[in-house]
Amino acid sequence: MKSSPSPWWKTGVIYQIYPRSFYDSNDDGIGDIKGITLKLDYLSWLGIDALWLSPVNVSPMYDFGYDISDYYDIDQCYGSFDDFTELVDKAHAHGIKIIMDLVINHTSHLHKWFVESRSSKDNRRRAWYIWHPGKNGKAPNNWRSAFGGSAWEFDSHTGEYYLHSFLKEQPDLNWRNSEMRKSIFKMMRHWLDMGVDGFRLDVVNWFVKDDRLRSNPFTIKPLDPEKHKYDRNRPEVHDYIRELRSVVDEYDARMTVGEVFTLPPGNPELSASFLGNGTDELHLAFDFSIMYRFWSARSFYKCIKKWSAAIPEKGWQCNMLSNHDQPRSRSRFLGGTDSEKRARVAAVFLLTIKGTPFLYYGEELGMKNTRLARSEIVDPLGRRYWPVYRGRDCSRTPMLWSAKQHAGFTHARPWLPVDSSYKTLNVRAQTGDRYSMLNLYRNLIHLRKKHRSLGEGEFIPEVHGFKNVLAYFRVHGDEKFFIVLNFSGKEKHINAGNTGQWRVMLSTHRTRYEHFTSLKITLAPYEATVIKWMGKL
Ligand code: NOJ
Ligand code: CA
Repeated sequence: MKSSPSPWWKTGVIYQIYPRSFYDSNDDGIGDIKGITLKLDYLSWLGIDALWLSPVNVSPMYDFGYDISDYYDIDQCYGSFDDFTELVDKAHAHGIKIIMDLVINHTSHLHKWFVESRSSKDNRRRAWYIWHPGKNGKAPNNWRSAFGGSAWEFDSHTGEYYLHSFLKEQPDLNWRNSEMRKSIFKMMRHWLDMGVDGFRLDVVNWFVKDDRLRSNPFTIKPLDPEKHKYDRNRPEVHDYIRELRSVVDEYDARMTVGEVFTLPPGNPELSASFLGNGTDELHLAFDFSIMYRFWSARSFYKCIKKWSAAIPEKGWQCNMLSNHDQPRSRSRFLGGTDSEKRARVAAVFLLTIKGTPFLYYGEELGMKNTRLARSEIVDPLGRRYWPVYRGRDCSRTPMLWSAKQHAGFTHARPWLPVDSSYKTLNVRAQTGDRYSMLNLYRNLIHLRKKHRSLGEGEFIPEVHGFKNVLAYFRVHGDEKFFIVLNFSGKEKHINAGNTGQWRVMLSTHRTRYEHFTSLKITLAPYEATVIKWMGKL
């Protein structure tokens, strides 16, 4: 019996674009929507199935779009509503889906809802945000903003404080208010009606706060001295996620992926809890554990083992190595002159383990963190914490398209400098080089899409990361793959004790179609090889 086709968000590869930095179509130094449309040929050549765009809605840009002042329109620096419609239509024509970033834990302080809310205590939108009188002339409780300082801002106009989990220009919405929720759902339908295929939900685990606004207990964690008992991960949040899911389910083939935001080192059980029973909350959830792991086969293995174990039976896992809030994966893996080799092993890992892969723009080239001077930093976090923490700009610099000026991203001065590696590390140079990182990613994506076992098959570990080697089978029906990853800079031997006819389908070191009659293999340093079972001997 042929099983029914799986939904695209399970089988596909999703590519995250930070629109400001992808491609600038009108030479003002800022990437834009037309720029993305112009690069659809590249994206479809690469083979990705969907794009997740970091926010493109109207925003005063205190947090570069994660502070939305109009959910219904597109910020003019990225283009117009028509440009966005064109992108959706053309992307669809290329077989590429569009996922929008839905920033609904908070709005901008300039959003009309907040402007009304702060205007008077009896305004009809007062309770759409979280207002409270102070306590003895101080903030209502001890909650701290993730971006530093108290999470409460005093508003002299009405003499009360409002809550902001991030900047004071990002007041938190009150999810307990049903009118507010209705407006959010209405806005979601607006984008779903025009054909948007899904949403990435910003900080989904922070939506609901304690109804009594109790102070958090303290801990001794240096980065974050609070235990977030009362301001995050409140159980009621799941009721609202179910409501939100039912809105998305009014439409065919749409999806949601939630950012479950925790401080290092991630939390698989918590992240998976946002999948509900696997069908009634989010379709996918990001867990950050893998992004905080040191480079080691054992550590990567333990991480995905825990993450898969947490996924509910009817749920589905997703994986990523980077995003716009983290240092670029290649830089995180360290390794000095071996960093590119490590990034290749990681690419094969990401594209052959179980779960929907998310790529971050430029990762397919092996882009590294850009070193920026204090004067070049624009991220509010970097500006606040420099030099202890330099913020997130290092992984948000322009995509490297060519060896031309500004890496072919723009003819103007780019909003962030281009990385100095662009002369050699760019799309143009790598497209023509069959051994480039870009072609490795492209081959991996195509191989994964061609073989169901790589996308949806069972994951059966064989070498569990000991001695810095990871090896596993992926099996679906009678299709079987064996993947070996040498995380170390030394030669390694493995013996998976399996005879038969095996053929190399992709490798960082071997030629394609090399044959094996057993899985007794000597691996080169940092070798990553994908082998297909061709039948019995
Ligand atoms: C998480 C987003 O990924 C990050 O970029 C943003 O600053 C915060 N949420 C606030 O929206
Ligand atoms: Ca532009």
